[in-house]
Amino acid sequence: MIEEILDLKTINKGSEISYIFNFSKIDKVHLQSPSLIKIKKREDRLKHFRNLNKIFEKNKYINQVELTESGFINLTLHLSEVLIYLQKSEDEVLETIKDTEPKKYILDYGGPNIGKSMHVGHLRPLNIGRALYNIYKISGNTCISDIHLGDWGIPISQILTYCYENKIEINNLSDKDLQEIYPKASKLASENLEFKKKVAENLSKLNKKNQNLYNDWQIVSNTTIQSIKNLLLKLNHKFDLFYGESTVVDLIPEMIDNLKNNNLVTLDNGALISKQKADPPVLILKSDSTYLYMTTDLATVLDREQNISPDEYFYIVDSRQSEHFKQLFLSVKYFNFSKSNFTHIGFGTINDTEGKPFKTRQGDVYPLEDLWNDIYQILIKKNNKTNAHVLTNSVLVFSDLLIDRSSNYKFDIEKFTNTEGKTAIYIQYTRVRIKSILKNLNKIEYFDKFDKTKLTDAEINLILSILKFSDTFKRSKKNNEPHHLAEYLYELCQRFNSFYKESRILDEANIYLQNRRLNILIVCLKIIEIIFNILGIETVEEM
Ligand code: ARG
Repeated sequence: MIEEILDLKTINKGSEISYIFNFSKIDKVHLQSPSLIKIKKREDRLKHFRNLNKIFEKNKYINQVELTESGFINLTLHLSEVLIYLQKSEDEVLETIKDTEPKKYILDYGGPNIGKSMHVGHLRPLNIGRALYNIYKISGNTCISDIHLGDWGIPISQILTYCYENKIEINNLSDKDLQEIYPKASKLASENLEFKKKVAENLSKLNKKNQNLYNDWQIVSNTTIQSIKNLLLKLNHKFDLFYGESTVVDLIPEMIDNLKNNNLVTLDNGALISKQKADPPVLILKSDSTYLYMTTDLATVLDREQNISPDEYFYIVDSRQSEHFKQLFLSVKYFNFSKSNFTHIGFGTINDTEGKPFKTRQGDVYPLEDLWNDIYQILIKKNNKTNAHVLTNSVLVFSDLLIDRSSNYKFDIEKFTNTEGKTAIYIQYTRVRIKSILKNLNKIEYFDKFDKTKLTDAEINLILSILKFSDTFKRSKKNNEPHHLAEYLYELCQRFNSFYKESRILDEANIYLQNRRLNILIVCLKIIEIIFNILGIETVEEM
């Protein structure tokens, strides 16, 4: 939006200097540019400044321009004019963040595994993945999300083998049973060589699509998928594709043959490794020829190239897997599987209030559904019941997205469900407050006639904050960091509440002053709602 009101695109076109303006931290200066600092000669600086000033003189949004001793350009704006500029429709606001060359993105996130329930560790990929999906989509790109289930390989064979050994009827297994079986099966495999061998044999059969094993796999897989889908529905998450590792197993034999024929792989102690120099070497197949995480991820690229052909691949997966993705991306290029860009968007872990991995009292992984219920229980006590579901989701989303994705953080249920402070409840309250003021006007539209003089500090701060939207959006997008938008949402709400506290609105006798405040309110609501949408926060009608 700064770019638009200052018309920087035109100014920078064919100009020696590329001007950028940032929000200023100096009182009474609204925007500041460091662009002339690099020019050391005073005369030259002045020459550029005068040229720029000539253009700025005709700009109705600009009130004052000055060049400081150290070379900063300071701007103050006519904020009532800016307020008129901001009175756009939502579509017009979104125009300011559109990409000039839209691309196709595949976003791989979520990645739950069969036999294990979704746990708190899945919160970050779900939230960050969805926010990035929305960010790229709203800026005009094609986005496809794929949950990429971990539904093949050793864990599944451990479950099946455990059931066979213990004569457990697979047909009747519930998701809960599976969650009990998997830890036992995995423990047994690490302790008992005989069992481990059987697991490997069964996996090898499963890879060859042995009818019985495949049927049993399908039953187990369907049971898990159903419960994952139910939980995602509750959490308000949707995916375009519900594919998994199993989707691509049929592509693997041919993929391996081609790699061998093209002399890109070699045997190393019986295991198949890539010939590309890498430390450690990239393992493609185990010595018993069974598939690895790498094998299915490589085949998934082939599948996506064939069926989707994305320009960009985003893997929103725990930072602890960064080595895997480094190897995957290297191999994709070495094997010439794709010419697209590949990015691993990592994130830190969620800890408890003591900074230890977030577990249940018994020391088990904390199921996501339990966390949901714990928050819900607190919220139904404090709020009316109809809102509690949406508010619970909001807490899970907003508290999580506030954190810089590379950091680990403590999930503090008490703090995150508070009405005050940087919480989902606070921002929901703020939106409801704005809505309820506006309810008194029958329709929401801007007022042409409003008082353009003597804006209060609270009004100025709020208008400036609203003006930050597209810059903040672009920063979030550039770094794939939704937390800038979450932080910004909080700032907007805070500034709105300061404005609300000191301004008369509905009981303001001066109609032109009231009109101005209502205009500010409508503009603010519009931006708040755009960000709710992007971050995946649902709205409530009253609180
Ligand atoms: N299922 C994996 C896990 O639990 C995450 C999958 C991430 N996506 C991928 N294409 N590797 O760690």
